[in-house]
Amino acid sequence: MRIILCDKPEDVASYGARLMSQQIKNKPDSVLGLATGSTPIKMYQHVIEQVKKGDLSLAACRSFNLDEYIGLTPDHSQSYRYFMQQNFFNQVDIAVENTFVPDGFADDIEASCVDYESKIQQSGGIDWQLLGIGVNGHIGFNEPGSSLRSRTRVKTLSSQTIEDNARFFSADEFQPQLAITVGIETIMQARDIVLLATGSAKAAAVKATAEGPVSASCPASILQFHPNVKLIVDAEAGQDLEHKQFYLRIEEETQKLMRY
Ligand code: GLP
Repeated sequence: MRIILCDKPEDVASYGARLMSQQIKNKPDSVLGLATGSTPIKMYQHVIEQVKKGDLSLAACRSFNLDEYIGLTPDHSQSYRYFMQQNFFNQVDIAVENTFVPDGFADDIEASCVDYESKIQQSGGIDWQLLGIGVNGHIGFNEPGSSLRSRTRVKTLSSQTIEDNARFFSADEFQPQLAITVGIETIMQARDIVLLATGSAKAAAVKATAEGPVSASCPASILQFHPNVKLIVDAEAGQDLEHKQFYLRIEEETQKLMRY
């Protein structure tokens, strides 16, 4: 796991965007694994700017999102499909039929999970996977206790996650307690993984991910076994890390990229 220390959330966003655009330039028909949440929004904005300037095209890309709430229609303002349309897909040149988000409103949810997993496999697997992290160490909606070999399936959200995400729902609005998420094994099969974390609420999860024992108690810790992970954190999210002297500061990381 390569840990990259940034000062500000803005640096996390711009570096994340740089990695994403580099991936797409190297492989224009990349299969992208995409994430929702507040953390990647700025990063998406940087990528959108590049597309608008004509410096980047996602026309040949396909994308698979990590997760979706069960019980929300795709046009519900809190569904992850809606989030992706608003914050990314509608503003870049990816073809909507090449964007996949689990269907939380399918008649047969179990069958739709199996179908989603096989679509990922049929596409050749994820080339580049973007991740955020939950306060409790979840990736996608793989909550603590998730099987480290799991595939796309239904998960019950933890009370911590429901509480954390309550800010997006109004008081009288239905907030789902179940979600579809790609599995931990599905994520681990991605060829490259970039995890972004900002803010002090993520500090304990970041420490457990990077320096803790590998355990289902912190699902993100499994990433220690992945050969190509970049964990990009701002000063607050990285504040509890004990071995900072071994990690690269963003300036050094950027220079290194320019050298090779
Ligand atoms: C959500 C999503 C995750 C996301 C995480 C962090 O519950 N299912 O994919 O990484 O929570 O969200 P945020 O970036 O808003 O802190």
